[in-house]
Amino acid sequence: MSTSTPAFGPPLVRVPHDQEPRKRPVVVGITGASGQLLARLCIERLVDYGYPILLVSTGPGRRVWHEELDEDLAISVRGWQERGTVTQYSVNDVGAPIASGGLVTQGMVVMPASMGTVSGIATGAAGNLLERAADVTLKEYRPLVLVPRETPLSAIHLENLLKLARLGVRVVPPMPAFYLKPQTMLEALQHLVPRVLSALAIPEALDEPPAYQPATG
Ligand SMILES: Cc1cc2nc3c(=O)[nH]c(=O)nc-3n(C[C@H](O)[C@H](O)[C@H](O)COP(=O)(O)O)c2cc1C
Repeated sequence: MSTSTPAFGPPLVRVPHDQEPRKRPVVVGITGASGQLLARLCIERLVDYGYPILLVSTGPGRRVWHEELDEDLAISVRGWQERGTVTQYSVNDVGAPIASGGLVTQGMVVMPASMGTVSGIATGAAGNLLERAADVTLKEYRPLVLVPRETPLSAIHLENLLKLARLGVRVVPPMPAFYLKPQTMLEALQHLVPRVLSALAIPEALDEPPAYQPATG
């Protein structure tokens, strides 16, 4: 544990991550938009950081996961469960723990977020467990992060996203950092992982060095 003395007030005490109190679970929602590889990279990073994951996927989410990653989501979940705590709920189970604000979480990320689910969250429809969990995250003022994917975006999409952004939702579209000149899709997505997790206020991600270092001299 190290201390530093700010100009005013008592010394700041910095607690190393390995001595931090219990990590709160992160709710992850997967929907039927394109961009499942980014979701996989983010989930794997959260597992590596030691966060319990509470997962819910829509039916289209499972379909697009399989189409883009050539693997059943259930198989992926089993792999993560060998390395960490990952609990998956049925999207129809509106009585699951993540449907209640009583379960305190770090927050929720919906990635990738389809325009259909963005609409459901923006209207408070809570038509399935994923939308209900997002609704709960909003009402409890916990971090809610959306990784929306569609192009081009219609005025309906933009209005829904704007409404949510005004409520404090972090909207993190999966846009590559062209300035880093990524050579592969994996490279293009890897730099987005800390961006998504920082939006969720994950301390380990906030501490990662920036990928872009401006030239000096
Ligand atoms: C291969 C594939 C890719 C898709 N990509 C997108 C996408 O990028 N964005 C989107 O909004 N919908 C996309 N869709 C359509 C959604 O899956 C569809 O609107 C679905 O009803 C969304 O349901 P959900 O929000 O419950 O997951 C895609 C569908 C398929 C089969």
